[in-house]
This record gives sequence, structure tokens and C-alpha cells, in this order.
Amino acid sequence: MKNFKKIPKFKNEKQEKEFWSKNDSVDYIDWSKARKNSLINFKNKDMNLQEIYRLAIDFGIKNDLRGEKEVKKILERKNKQYSKLTKEEKESFDKEKLSNPYMDSTIHFDSGNQIKKVMVGIDIDAGELLIAKELGVDAVIAHHPIGKGLSYLDDVMHLQADVLAMYGVPINVAESLMKIRISEVSRSVNPANHFKSPMAAQNLKMNFMNVHTPADNAVATFLKNLIEKKKPEYVSEIIELLEGVPEYKDAKKYGLGPTLFAGNKENRAGKIAVTEITGGTEGSPEIYEKMANAGVGTIIAMHQSEKHREAAEKAHINVVIAGHISSDNIGVNLFLDELEKKGIKIMTCSGLTRVSRVKK
Ligand SMILES: [Fe+2]
Ligand SMILES: [Fe+2]
Repeated sequence: MKNFKKIPKFKNEKQEKEFWSKNDSVDYIDWSKARKNSLINFKNKDMNLQEIYRLAIDFGIKNDLRGEKEVKKILERKNKQYSKLTKEEKESFDKEKLSNPYMDSTIHFDSGNQIKKVMVGIDIDAGELLIAKELGVDAVIAHHPIGKGLSYLDDVMHLQADVLAMYGVPINVAESLMKIRISEVSRSVNPANHFKSPMAAQNLKMNFMNVHTPADNAVATFLKNLIEKKKPEYVSEIIELLEGVPEYKDAKKYGLGPTLFAGNKENRAGKIAVTEITGGTEGSPEIYEKMANAGVGTIIAMHQSEKHREAAEKAHINVVIAGHISSDNIGVNLFLDELEKKGIKIMTCSGLTRVSRVKK
């Protein structure tokens, strides 16, 4: 157990700023326990972007399929690894990693002002930021990663190995296959112009953040609970169950409802796994054979490439594609319920249709 130093008393903000610019907070604060002061239970208080960000991370941890305890353990391990780094290595280490297990979700510009009205969408670029400025909102929240959120997309994919292990795939097999896929994703996001939208936000002085895996965790948990409660026996019953969810019902009107990608509606579902909803992006196509060996009969996914679909079919796994943007809508809406409870006004854009589940 590490002994933490005592934080001195500061006379003013300037003194405090100066102190933290010269000292490393990990020597003073146990960041792995940072969630203890959860903001989720704050009521009737104007929030700034930092507080909304912390609420999003806490929300993601509460909805993590691995469980809060497991996420805490991972953060503690990261803190231990950090403490063993050399001074030079510490300088280039992004300290946000010590308290944020979802580095694909972060703040891109923060003026420090209080936030009363937010504009939220699935993909945000300079266009949406300009509209937000025109409409006088205080902050914009995107779902899909941008900026360093995109460069760290591969960082959240380790989650998938743990979720696969929960469904019976040996962790060594899941980790080894994920490792190959994680390095592929890391290379694929590498050439992007990551800071295009964050820089537009800086120029416009528009508060800007994105919430990816915390929202995807929420939809994964939502679907897992729904399946466990209703226990569908046939593949057709899974599709009917999903079609009862407002976001999927709405998507069906536009030809984008839940669809069967592999298998047959009349097949028995067998063990249903919610393995392709959260954790960055698609995993390894080689995993389906291992999942079939672990007893999985059907998977529910957000979206799936042709290569992955063929591999799942070969492994005799039924694949129900719930829908990409509609599933993202559920996750984001569940997160926005938390903001609505705090009295923050919400506007939507870029593929998001608001469905509130807040009891009125
Ligand atoms: Fe998503
Ligand atoms: Fe998405």
C-alpha cells in the first residue's frame, strides 16, 4: 500500500495552480479511488464540463459488464504501473489514464463555464459546432470518438476479452485474439486527422467532449438485462423483443430495425451473448469458433463486417444485428437521462433522437 503525501492548505487558486504544476498528483491522491466522490447523486446544481465528464465516467463504470470491482482493480493496476515509471516516462504518460478507464471518451475544449444547455449527437464536426454556437448552447457532446478519444480507441478494447471470458471463452484465448485485433485497430486509426473537430471547438470557444464507451456500456447492460429478464428461446423472439425498445422501433420505420445477419429465425437461440455492443469496435473474426466451443448459440451485435459475419456463420452462431446508430441512441439516451435529472436542457443533432426514461 502506497503512503500518500499530505496536500498543503492553499491561500488562493494561484498558489494551488503553482503547487500542482510542480508536483505530481499521484504522490498525493489515490486516483484509483477517485470515483468515491461520485457526482451522480448531485442534485439541482449547475454543472461545468469537468463535472459532466466525471459523471459520464462514473456512469460508464456503474454500467460496465465487468462490474465496478473489476474496473477498480484495473485502475489500481494502472496506478501501480505508473508509479514504477522513470521520470521521463512519467512526463510523456497521459495521467488521465489513472482515473479514466475509457480513454476513448474525453474533454476536447473546456472554458470552465457552467453548462445549462447541451447539444448532443452521434458524430460531431465543425458543422455541428457552428450550429451549436448559432443556437447559443453551452456545450456539445459527441458519441463517436474524436481527438485523442480516437487515438485511444484501441485502449478500451481489452474490455472485450473480459466479457468473452464471462461467456466461457478461456481468457488466454480471448486475450491473445484481441491482442492481434487491437494492434490492427491502433494502426487503422493512426492516419486520421484526429484534432480537426477539437480544434474547431477551440476556435469557436465551444465546450466540447465525447462519451463513447460509457454510453456503449449502458446499452450493453440494458440489452443483457432485457435478455436475462425475458429469456427468449427462439432467434425470432430476440428480434421481437428488441423491436419493442423505442429506439429500435423507430429505426424499423426507416428499414434499419433489428436484423438477422447469420442463422435462422426459427433456430433455437441457445446461450445468448452480448459481446459486440461495447469495447471500442469489432473484435477478432477468429473468436466465433471459440465462442461456439464455449457454448454460445447467438450473439447480439451493433454492427458486423462481412468478414466477421462469414466467420460467425461458419461457426454456426446466430447473429442478431440490433442496429448501429439505434443502439448508440439507447446508450446516449441512458446517459442523457442522468443529465436531465440534473436539470440540464438537451438538444439533439447528428442521428440522435431523444428518448427519455426519467420518471416524471
Ligand atoms: Fe457506440
Ligand atoms: Fe457507434
